[in-house]
Amino acid sequence: MILDIKKYPDKILTKKTKRVGEVSAEIEKLIDDMIETLYAKRGAGLAANQVGISKRIAVVDDGQGLVVLIDPKITKKKGETSMAEGCLSFPGLEIEVKRPEKIEVEYLDKSGQQKKIKASNLLARIICHETDHLDGKTMLDKLPLIKRLKMKRQLKGLFK
Ligand code: CO
Repeated sequence: MILDIKKYPDKILTKKTKRVGEVSAEIEKLIDDMIETLYAKRGAGLAANQVGISKRIAVVDDGQGLVVLIDPKITKKKGETSMAEGCLSFPGLEIEVKRPEKIEVEYLDKSGQQKKIKASNLLARIICHETDHLDGKTMLDKLPLIKRLKMKRQLKGLFK
């Protein structure tokens, strides 16, 4: 089932999500729907709170394959790169965001297995963008204060 995407400034986007812990049938169904939604909307990543469910789950695909992240935690960050990013919750908007070049992330996969992977460049960027979502942060929070306030004013009522 393709799910509706919550757009900025929906309050759920600024709320920290809850840890999942155990992968139930309900969680599996949610993940399947998130995957279907990610590809239908041609996104690179999708966090559960973007579809209205405040749980610590994200699905990402940098073009090299799907990764399902349950309770992801970034344990290492290295380097810095800057690139324009988009977000399904901010349709049409692109913002230049600085992110680590390389990361290590620990998470549970869809079968509940503990995993640890190294990611770099685009995949690292997408995972950081999604874990930010899960912490209740959007790419707007990456802007310096003045730019952020200006951007928030410009975006007022835009994504209804
Ligand atoms: Co996003």
